[in-house]
Amino acid sequence: MAAPIEILAILGSLRKKSYNRAALRAAHEVLPADALLVDFTLEGITGYNQDDEGNVPPRVAELKVAIRAADAVLIVSPEYNYSIPGVLKNAIDWSSRRGADNLLVWEGKPVAMMGASVGAQGTSRAQYHLRQVFVFLDALPLNRPEVMISAAAQKFDAEGNLTDEKTREAIRKLLEGLGRGRGDCRPRKSQTSCPPERRK
Ligand code: FNR
Repeated sequence: MAAPIEILAILGSLRKKSYNRAALRAAHEVLPADALLVDFTLEGITGYNQDDEGNVPPRVAELKVAIRAADAVLIVSPEYNYSIPGVLKNAIDWSSRRGADNLLVWEGKPVAMMGASVGAQGTSRAQYHLRQVFVFLDALPLNRPEVMISAAAQKFDAEGNLTDEKTREAIRKLLEGLGRGRGDCRPRKSQTSCPPERRK
């Protein structure tokens, strides 16, 4: 049997009762049998400073190692002011840099995204901004399905359980899609984004 696909989940909200945290929980519930989902929270990641690139904060180093080790990344994030929350953008900025370890961890990395908002657009604008960022990083964002959970207050109960079956199904399909992209960890210029055994 093939080894399970390892997906690193990055949560873009620090809020304890976050709808996105609840959506990530739902992702664990519908995870395909041949996948592993490992959560990464952005707590403790300080503001990006280019002066510190040679000596990045430990949590940033952990993030880079985790992205590199994963077969794919799942971003679960709210939208703030029609865009990517600062904590998430900051983490992407840190992890986008080669740093002392000379690693471009996003290159060729399959990325899926989903998000929940209390508004009507379900984080669509933040997700399109994320897609734009991933063009520059030469990552491989999955096109479909788009999982944009609008009116989140009506889709989760008071305990954070996802009660909307259509949304649950969309999350399941998104995770399956990441699995289908398995191995699509294309060697790029730097040859650093995929461990050698996972290159095509
Ligand atoms: C928001 N919210 C929000 N919602 C949205 O649909 N579009 C937006 O641009 C914004 N902007 C925004 C900015 C800031 C600073 C905050 C705090 C909130 C509302 C947002 O959808 C809501 O707070 C979610 O509950 C945030 O996600 P979590 O923390 O529940 O996962």
